Amino acid sequence: MSSLLTLSRAARLVGVTRGALQKKIKDGELTTFEGMVQPGELLRVYPQARLEDNALLEKLTELKDGAFARRLRERILPDPEVLAVRVAELGRELAESQDELMRYRAASHELETRLQALIAQLPAAARPLAEAVRDHFREQLLQVDTEAGHHQLAVRESFMRVMVAHVQVVPSQREFFVEGSDNLLDAALRSGLALNYGCSNGNCGLCKARVVTGQVKKVRNHDYVLSEAEKHDGMVLMCCNTAVTDCVIEAEEAGSAQEIPLQQIATRVKSIDRLAPDLVRLHVQTPRTRRLRFLAGQYVTLQTGETPAVDYPIASCPCDDRNLQFHIHRMPDNPFAEYVLDNLKNGDTVQLLGPRGDFVLNEDSPRALVFIAWDTGFAPIKSLIEHAMALDVAESIHLYWLSDSAHGHYLANQCRSWSDALDNFHFTAVSLPDAAASDPDRMRSEIERVVHDHPGLREFDFYVAGSGTLLDSAHEVFIRHGLPDNQLNLGYPR
Ligand code: FES
Repeated sequence: MSSLLTLSRAARLVGVTRGALQKKIKDGELTTFEGMVQPGELLRVYPQARLEDNALLEKLTELKDGAFARRLRERILPDPEVLAVRVAELGRELAESQDELMRYRAASHELETRLQALIAQLPAAARPLAEAVRDHFREQLLQVDTEAGHHQLAVRESFMRVMVAHVQVVPSQREFFVEGSDNLLDAALRSGLALNYGCSNGNCGLCKARVVTGQVKKVRNHDYVLSEAEKHDGMVLMCCNTAVTDCVIEAEEAGSAQEIPLQQIATRVKSIDRLAPDLVRLHVQTPRTRRLRFLAGQYVTLQTGETPAVDYPIASCPCDDRNLQFHIHRMPDNPFAEYVLDNLKNGDTVQLLGPRGDFVLNEDSPRALVFIAWDTGFAPIKSLIEHAMALDVAESIHLYWLSDSAHGHYLANQCRSWSDALDNFHFTAVSLPDAAASDPDRMRSEIERVVHDHPGLREFDFYVAGSGTLLDSAHEVFIRHGLPDNQLNLGYPR
């Protein structure tokens, strides 16, 4: 087994989130070496019981798959050729380890023989000291042989290396895993990376990346032609290649909302689900070759029928860039919403222009996350939470969802499933009287309550979306309590 593990690999090995490991590091319970974890240290903090328990990891995977409805991951083995290379590589490492082990065994046997001869020649008074050294040496050898946890961890890591490839992206140093028959782009999107791409289909060339180390394999033919110089330089299309071995790739990522291009796409209605009497979830699908690249928390302009266009935040995760969801409720001055609730049907066209907005996650922040939503302000918050879960870096997430009787907490089950799956996710549903949305005093007191729950205010990033009154109150209260401006993110009033 590798002597040092990346945080992502260590988290997968013991079946916890990366955020949970980061918390242990921050609290001084887990020691790292240049950001890596030693297997022995990992086992000290997570004794072997956890090694047999994949439940948390499986729940997390289910949640991510739920957000990634587009390409529902087939739980299949990687391509046979990929498997063959990985098994051969493991076999080579095993042979090297065995060779090394035999040499160590011969050396330790030789050492013990010499120690024995030395002891026999020593005067009686000096023997106990030499015998103590010999006994300590034997004990140490025995201990190495019987560290069962180490064996289990090594077996698990070997299995993981056959089934899953680890990819590190430079210069960002972000990491992701490629499972099953996924291509590099899909795997990266599922892990919350904002890599550059366009068509997802081998036509545009925007997902070009350079393979620095490791081996990839083409899994889809592409129309885009890479030049000989690019091929020679190790360039590949991420949407058409999978990782055969662990890799390091050089790829561009969007660092801010401004780097995401504005896109115009004719989408089709996939489903319209009633969430409350006058609230629906509109699910539209882009064409296979024109997916929407966006960041969690952004909004788009929608238009259908003869109605005027309206802005709506995207309520789904960028990890599923083809299936987009919106929470649309009836409003007297919104003919678009009326049309969606009363006339729109599956298969109809909805024109989309976007994305826009900078209510996005500060991915470089090490702070824990607190989300506050009023009513359908939950839509962009949901997208942000799913993205934060995909990134798996937040040490904790707390969602406060404020609502009145009009729509209630219309996706409370989803919030509860996040709580069930993740130790570090907390959900507080707050039911308020119907006039609360426009009552500044009531909104201020709700924000004061959040402040009271988080005494170390500066250790958190806050994201708030909902009514204008809520946003104004949040700004007033948080800033008055000394929260730095850059830790308060205000979304869209609905
Ligand atoms: S995203 Fe267009 S070629 Fe890969």
